[in-house]
Amino acid sequence: MSLYFIDGQFTKQDEVKISIDDRGYYFGDGVYEVIKVYDGELFTADEHIERLFASAEKIQLTIPYDRAGVMGIARRLIVDNELVNGHIYMQVTRGASPRQHHFPTPTVPAILTAYTMTGERPLAAMEKGVAVKSVEDIRWLRCDIKSLNLLGSVLAKEEAKAGGYEEAILHRDGTVTEGSSTNMFGIKDGIVRTHPVTNLILEGITRQVVLQICDELNIPVEEKPFTLEEAFEMDEMFYTSTTAEVMPIARVDDKIIDDGLRGALTKKIQDAFATKIPLLNKEGRV
Ligand code: PDD
Repeated sequence: MSLYFIDGQFTKQDEVKISIDDRGYYFGDGVYEVIKVYDGELFTADEHIERLFASAEKIQLTIPYDRAGVMGIARRLIVDNELVNGHIYMQVTRGASPRQHHFPTPTVPAILTAYTMTGERPLAAMEKGVAVKSVEDIRWLRCDIKSLNLLGSVLAKEEAKAGGYEEAILHRDGTVTEGSSTNMFGIKDGIVRTHPVTNLILEGITRQVVLQICDELNIPVEEKPFTLEEAFEMDEMFYTSTTAEVMPIARVDDKIIDDGLRGALTKKIQDAFATKIPLLNKEGRV
């Protein structure tokens, strides 16, 4: 029986109780993180926890723990649930209070929920690549906040999935922003292109790792928006996220990217990413 953390306590999955008045239900009023675990070890956890606190601050939400406390909850869940490979899901809502749009008065305590999920690296797809569908980005103008309000992303991912695609490539008036739950990258003439960090995208932690890798490998990067038309003409494309890592894109809509095979630079970045995973380093399996 998997252990959950909810509202200050570690609880067995079938004993978890959640209030109908939790503002997460009513309004998606909260923030969340997904942190990868490889071989029982958290990956880039400091960065994820930092972003959790940053997202909370942007919506004036006080997390009822400090950073070390949040880390401690994640570690205990990994140990007690004997998680080897997978991730931690963590969310904080603005607490339980009768439904009213404005913040509860008086203030109620925020509720942190966390649990573990098992999952392996998507190695086959990382070799073969996936297809993505262009979908208009109808989300709000604070995509920099990792908010529980994900309806725009949910609808985009569903549209992609219903069409047989793995992910949606979102665009505003033809300019690519990011994926429904990923950051988008293109490579043209040896230069890696991706949307700059603005209110229109989430600053992905995997995106940060990839930019660091490019720096280390002297691969030039331009953090500059590109259009869908430009995407169709890229030499290589990939997207990044905690669970997808560095995922090659073989096709955008019906346009095959280059020869449809994983590109050489994408592979180089994937290989460098793998060296940063504790498990692979530890066992010398890179
Ligand atoms: N999604 N952009 C959006 C809109 C996202 O939701 C995510 C993460 C990313 C990539 O961020 P990171 O590299 O830090 O995972 C970009 C998570 C995994 C999710 O919602 O499940």
